[in-house]
Amino acid sequence: MDKIIYLDNAATSFPKPDIVHETVHKFYATTGVNPGRTGCDLGLAAEQMIHGTRVFLSGFFNPSLMAAGKPKDPNRLVFTLNATMSLNLIINGCVSSGDHIVTTLLEHNSVIRPVNHKVRDGGAEATYVAPDGEGYLDPEDIRKAIQPNTKLVILNHGSNVTGVVQDLESIGKVCKEAGVQFAVDSAQTAGVLPIDMAECHIDFLSFTGHKGLFGPTGTGGDLRGGRGGDSGDDFRWDGRAQCGALSPGGVSLSPGGGDAEPGGHRRSACGCELDRREGT
Ligand SMILES: Cc1ncc(COP(=O)(O)O)c(C=O)c1O
Repeated sequence: MDKIIYLDNAATSFPKPDIVHETVHKFYATTGVNPGRTGCDLGLAAEQMIHGTRVFLSGFFNPSLMAAGKPKDPNRLVFTLNATMSLNLIINGCVSSGDHIVTTLLEHNSVIRPVNHKVRDGGAEATYVAPDGEGYLDPEDIRKAIQPNTKLVILNHGSNVTGVVQDLESIGKVCKEAGVQFAVDSAQTAGVLPIDMAECHIDFLSFTGHKGLFGPTGTGGDLRGGRGGDSGDDFRWDGRAQCGALSPGGVSLSPGGGDAEPGGHRRSACGCELDRREGT
């Protein structure tokens, strides 16, 4: 190919570092099987790779917990196709008819569209907080927008349009004080700017693998934060996706699928228990 100047890294990073191609190639050349389907050495190696990625990401987005010697439970992470799927999962899993959502006028379509859909067809309400003239959100405006029926505050860390980075710590404090779940779209900042879920009181962190984390396309996920806890969670990842096995190596890991037994545990396709009470 002729030499090109690539300026579209906010859409997806390119070229990926050589180690990304090498690792994907090595996986398919040497391991290349799904974990959870087989107890053979290859399946176990694939499972270890996935578990290692969980451990790494859980620490990467929770440096203060790591420093305190209290690492995040790596099973509070669900892998998805991308940030779009991660954000849809959060919104669909959190918001029901009669609930109120606080979001902003700065959001990507992967937030705006599912929120609008919830309002138009799902009986929910939403408030769209406006930024100031420079694109910054005032945490006090978020506080004012919260209502007794607010279920979720969801906004991006860094805007794909303006590049403005919001003060997550102050907004997270407002949400914590109000007892409302705080979801962050880190599509533009994960891997680019430090993010500390615990310090910013983030309940859901949506990330994509293919931008600042320099991973392959078709990767992303959601991390569950503090409230909701590590030892039990009433949140249901409403992915409506079903799959029987996990596909590593840069291919999607489908959440919300797997075996769901009424009244029992729901085991996700990525091998972790996502919610303990069916229907909650
Ligand atoms: C702010 C923001 N949120 C979400 C997304 C969706 O990311 P993905 O391509 O991983 O679905 C993007 C993509 O450009 C984005 O910029």
